[in-house]
Amino acid sequence: MTFTAPIQMPGLALDPQWYRRAVFYEVMVRSFVDSNGDGAGDLSGLISRLDYLQWLGVDALWLPPFYQSPLRDGGYDVSDFHAILPEFGTLEEFRDLVTKAHERNMRIVIDYPLNHTSDAHDWFQQSREDPEGPYGDFYVWRDTDEEYKNIRIIFVDTEESNWTFDPVRRQFFFHRFFSHQPDLNFENPAVREAVFDTVRFWMDLGVDGIRLDAIPYLFETEEGNGEGEPETHQFIRDLRTMIDRDYPGRILIAEANQWPQEVVQFFGTEEEPECHMAFDFPVMPRIFYSLRSQQAGELIRILSEATDVPSGAGWGVFLRNHDELTLEMVSEEYRQAMYGWYAYDPRMRSNIGIRRRLAPLLDNSRAELELAHALLFSLKGSPFLYYGDEIGMGDNIWLPDRDSSRTPMQWTPDRNAGFSTADPGKLYLPVVQSLVYNYNLVNVESQLAQSRSLLHWVRNVIHVRKAHPTFGLGELRMLQTDHESVLAFVREYEGSGSQFGDAPEKILCVFSFAHNPVSVTIQMDELGGSSLYDLFGGGQFPTINEDGSVTLTLGTQSFYWLHVGESHFAGGRS
Ligand code: BGC
Repeated sequence: MTFTAPIQMPGLALDPQWYRRAVFYEVMVRSFVDSNGDGAGDLSGLISRLDYLQWLGVDALWLPPFYQSPLRDGGYDVSDFHAILPEFGTLEEFRDLVTKAHERNMRIVIDYPLNHTSDAHDWFQQSREDPEGPYGDFYVWRDTDEEYKNIRIIFVDTEESNWTFDPVRRQFFFHRFFSHQPDLNFENPAVREAVFDTVRFWMDLGVDGIRLDAIPYLFETEEGNGEGEPETHQFIRDLRTMIDRDYPGRILIAEANQWPQEVVQFFGTEEEPECHMAFDFPVMPRIFYSLRSQQAGELIRILSEATDVPSGAGWGVFLRNHDELTLEMVSEEYRQAMYGWYAYDPRMRSNIGIRRRLAPLLDNSRAELELAHALLFSLKGSPFLYYGDEIGMGDNIWLPDRDSSRTPMQWTPDRNAGFSTADPGKLYLPVVQSLVYNYNLVNVESQLAQSRSLLHWVRNVIHVRKAHPTFGLGELRMLQTDHESVLAFVREYEGSGSQFGDAPEKILCVFSFAHNPVSVTIQMDELGGSSLYDLFGGGQFPTINEDGSVTLTLGTQSFYWLHVGESHFAGGRS
């Protein structure tokens, strides 16, 4: 496979707000390409497919942890933050990845699980053996398991308590996640300094950003629930101050699985900023809820919630990632409904969520896949794709835990889906061979050869989005409709900076979740008399009535992106 996307000027284009316009792509190094035939993906393999990612329109990669690790939690259990797991490659290869990505104007964001380490980390080994030594106070040790009763257990499928007794030190240690992942003691200034050192280490290697894994959980208090305590926010502010001073232009992304009012606190304020970006956890499950309930109401409610964020703050919108589709941010009633629709087999469930990939969740329905992606690419924030979803890869619910959706990327119909030349039995996980998603059928090569494949469709929608910076930088204003299945909003931006000139831009986005065609009247108030043009094909739509209303018909589970004003045709709809 060859990709002919032109390589741009060496180095990165200067744009302090690059993250607000970027299309992100989450790729696990282990799962993408195996360059040396040992059965696991590696950095060299990833480098060899940068052309593919550039062709797709990806601006930034998010790499989940590739550090030294026993891999008992997909690499989120780190045993050395300054070393790369040898099966993934070397620091030299990482440097090469950064250089080659930057040559393509593509950024690299790494993942940093700073809240905890693996119990195999040397700090923990020293801490348990020598309480009086330099690492004695690096973890949260207690004589009993009585403290922090308000702190919830996250991995409810495997853990009964956040405390585990260590037979070596003969004390309990605290952990938010698995019992092999002790929490670091952020009260200890030496821990905070060690975290700063790690951030500097990777920034010096040229990374453009860091996803702060599990960020709400750094500090715990007896009164609070240990999620976003004031001390945690102070720590992030200090980190941001250091980044702005020593590494301007690099970003921090918050992984905070919380309600909007709590998540926004991780942006900080105009005067005292914290993270540049935060993932939008509340919106994600509501997209899936709307698809099955045929009701737009829940999505409208959450999108209408007033959340004041500092200028420059950016949301990270996503459909799926390497974790379960978490249902923590929905009520019990909605959660049960979603289990019924999306996790009818108990094997599909994991903790408080669903461990399936996007295409199987949507029953491989092309209409639903397009509708979900259209939301992903037009909601407020930057889209984060999960590797393989651009070709509608399947999952394997017979694998344990979240491995179900971490299987090898499917490149070709050849052995191991073109992922690796190893003996198939040696792969870190088997490739998907199910009836519908078999790698013989679902792979990059075959989708490249079909002009109407999902892959070409996703690429096209990415390029249409990128031709209109309004999607990244503009405001989102909800509109009234007279149909319960329809969501409508305007994205608007003063001075669009698009390829069509600098005039203010307005884009009407309409989505129907109904399982039948519908006719809907949308109220656009002050836009009465304006023309509407399809952003994909350029076709003219009904003009908005003088009273600001416009009536549109939408096919089953479909959407429009319509330019308000004149035609802004940016390319064909494949
Ligand atoms: C990551 C998970 C991981 C957990 C513990 C999360 O937020 O996304 O994959 O298991 O942190 O590190």
